[in-house]
Amino acid sequence: MIKLSDKIAPIFHPVHRAIRDKTADEFWIKGGRNSTKSSFVALQIVLGIMQDPDANAVCFRKVGAFIKDSIQATILWAIDELGETENFASINSPHEITYLPTGQKILLRGLDKPTKIKSIKLRRGYFKYLWFEEADEYSGDDEIRSVEQSVLRGDKTKKFVEFLTYNPPKNFKHWINKLAEENVDEKFIHHSTYLDIPQDWLSEKTLQKIKRLKENNYEAYVHEYLGKCVGNPKEIIFSGKFEEAEFETPPLNELYQSRFFFGADWGFAADPSVLIRMFIKDDCLWIDYEVYAAQVEIDHIGQVIFDKIPESRKWQIKADNSRPETISNLRRQGFNISGAKKWGGSVEEGVEYIKSFRKIIIHKRCPRILREFETYNYKIDKNTREVLPVIDDTKSRIYEKGDKIGTKDDGIDACRYGLADYIRGATDIIAF
Ligand SMILES: Nc1ncnc2c1ncn2[C@@H]1O[C@H](COP(=O)(O)OP(=O)(O)O)[C@@H](O)[C@H]1O
Ligand SMILES: [Mg+2]
Repeated sequence: MIKLSDKIAPIFHPVHRAIRDKTADEFWIKGGRNSTKSSFVALQIVLGIMQDPDANAVCFRKVGAFIKDSIQATILWAIDELGETENFASINSPHEITYLPTGQKILLRGLDKPTKIKSIKLRRGYFKYLWFEEADEYSGDDEIRSVEQSVLRGDKTKKFVEFLTYNPPKNFKHWINKLAEENVDEKFIHHSTYLDIPQDWLSEKTLQKIKRLKENNYEAYVHEYLGKCVGNPKEIIFSGKFEEAEFETPPLNELYQSRFFFGADWGFAADPSVLIRMFIKDDCLWIDYEVYAAQVEIDHIGQVIFDKIPESRKWQIKADNSRPETISNLRRQGFNISGAKKWGGSVEEGVEYIKSFRKIIIHKRCPRILREFETYNYKIDKNTREVLPVIDDTKSRIYEKGDKIGTKDDGIDACRYGLADYIRGATDIIAF
């Protein structure tokens, strides 16, 4: 007996259940390489065909020439894994796979020649499953919608299941990255990486390859294997400068000047207030704690935010000086807090100072400051695409699972405030 739960990595179980229980019909399966995204979708389609005699599937790849070695191979793999090799037949011209007991079809098509879809005819049932593999290759959502319409032919009475699988492109502004953060109630968005699947599914060779890339080109690793957008390296201010890591905070006497730096930024309206803890060691800036919380009453900032970080009552906290009443309230609550100085050019100098560290090492428990380091960017000349030496201060939002969780500089501002006294005198103090 084949146990399906052995074939599907636990990270995909919620997706499997949503398909089975029909709680969603549009699945955006994104992530890094080798997270079994394509294999998962292939298994779902083959299962779906066997379970519903009216179901057929059509799977697309932008470039037809890649079909045989990608989607077709993956579906044949899924058929074998399910022990159904004898029940399916595959041909190559045109590419299609037939479920022999009923004649149901899994068609595989390239979208490089749009006319190819018009000729799709079925002997039985309808196209229940649509799969756009490597969906970022399409020119835009329009292309996908128009294919969808021509396949579904506007029949709204039937149940459809649509899959988009892809590795997010580098550029944050790529249509698929933008759409993955919009109208999230209408789609099931899923992210996975090779770290999420049983590690014995990955060959030693693959693991070695990943390890080498991680050591030699961390940005490329983050993009390819963690499936994150890393942006255009020229546009991302801290590109190549930061790294996520799991580390123990060393004893005080090992830290530069035996001290921590605490920086706080105040949120307005929906933006969060933030407290960040940092230290300096081995020419690196280490961030070991973060707390972000939106819409916290001034009287509660101490408890809800500051007290969540160890020793925040012991060390000096430098904060955004634009809210003196908040600062004096927190001082009354027992914190050693004062406003960080601002001056003409303090943002740029602060950013340059942070960049002057060998690396900024961000603890795994600080995902939001990490996200800011990943996205903080220079302005671009929209006409020439030139990267300008100007920090982009538009308050663009950061999303997580569709929720707006702040802007891209709340935490970085807090870092600058926390380091303000070092930044100011940067010329001589920087020799750490
Ligand atoms: N259930 C499974 N058991 C063992 N290996 C699997 C399983 N599912 C997928 N794999 C293997 O994992 C590798 C990566 O899968 P793939 O679907 O190509 O990942 P992605 O589409 O995320 O890049 C492939 O070699 C695939 O055969
Ligand atoms: Mg794939």
